Amino acid sequence: MIWETEIVKHANKKMMQKAADLIKAGEIVAFPTETVYGLGADASNAIAVEKIFKAKGRPQDNPLIVHIADQEMLFDCISGPLTKMAQKLIAKFWPGPLTLIFDKSNYIPEETSAGLKTVAIRMPKHPVALDLIKRAGLPLAAPSANSSGYPSPTRAEHVYYDLEGKIPLIVDGGSSQVGIESTVLDIRGEKPIILRPGGITSDDLREVLGEDLVHYEKSTDIEKPVSPGMKYRHYAPHKAVSLLSTEEIQALINNCPADPEKKFRKAIIISKETDFLVRPDCQFKIIRYGSRNNPAKLARKLFSLLRSLDQDRSVKQIYIEKIPEKGLGEAVMNRLQKAALQERPISGGGD
Ligand code: TXA
Ligand code: MG
Repeated sequence: MIWETEIVKHANKKMMQKAADLIKAGEIVAFPTETVYGLGADASNAIAVEKIFKAKGRPQDNPLIVHIADQEMLFDCISGPLTKMAQKLIAKFWPGPLTLIFDKSNYIPEETSAGLKTVAIRMPKHPVALDLIKRAGLPLAAPSANSSGYPSPTRAEHVYYDLEGKIPLIVDGGSSQVGIESTVLDIRGEKPIILRPGGITSDDLREVLGEDLVHYEKSTDIEKPVSPGMKYRHYAPHKAVSLLSTEEIQALINNCPADPEKKFRKAIIISKETDFLVRPDCQFKIIRYGSRNNPAKLARKLFSLLRSLDQDRSVKQIYIEKIPEKGLGEAVMNRLQKAALQERPISGGGD
């Protein structure tokens, strides 16, 4: 099916109702969340969910996050009672950018969970997302609304660029506040495991969970659970991305060659702290992201920057200065490391 994709303002109540009606009728709709834009479908409808995989070109073995607006929806999706740990996390971080893994109920079809017996759930904080879920009256399965493997969308126009013609409607709710995806936390075992760092930092989680918190990608002493989304190259522009230390970036800028024809232009994304080295005649395209110690600012614009540089024809190669892996810096560096992986997987992109 080829759609004439519409972008509608969230303030338009009639259009919000149309979005909810499309979801109820088994179609897919893009909507804003505080992290990134999502591509939503009725989480209990296998045929609707398959449309998401098709529109994104997403590998079938990568499960979706289910978005809810109230506790009743949570209990529809999971089996068994909430543990103490779950209760504490929910009280502190929902609504917000924390996704929790539970054992799933039969309400969630295998298409949504990609064959797993578990389901990932989050309650978004964005009022437009909550409004849409409530109007539809059902939980929404929603991955990020990008083409699989490409940087996640933080504005309606990013979704349009990737999915025009493939979906009927995009609800425009402005720029996403956080800019990177939710933290995914598996709380089923003895020790909670961060499967994907994101909008809620390890320090935030440690305040509630103590020192037992395990980081999936860094840990060597846990028996690793199935984590389907992790094997793919994600968040990646088509151009080569290199992640360099501050020293390496500074050396690059110091040796900036004369390139009057600008045939091979490097784009360099640097911190405010490195900015003083840039000479006026430097032929590199310099993009500043603010202080290395303010990762929230870089998080907010990171995907948008990667997208615009990827689409800038004069740019052939992208360099980014690393930031400290503190606070949101951990999630930002995680995305950058995945974007910088050189090889794309044989089976296509990530999520
Ligand atoms: O902020 C976000 O999380 C955004 C917005 C739209 O809510 N969504 C998002 O979804 O980033 P997606 O599909 O791009 O990423 C979902 C991640 C993947 O890494 C996937 O493998 C993991 O969550 N995931 C989903 N269900 C899982 C499960 N049952 N067990 C383990 N990991 C799961
Ligand atoms: Mg994604």
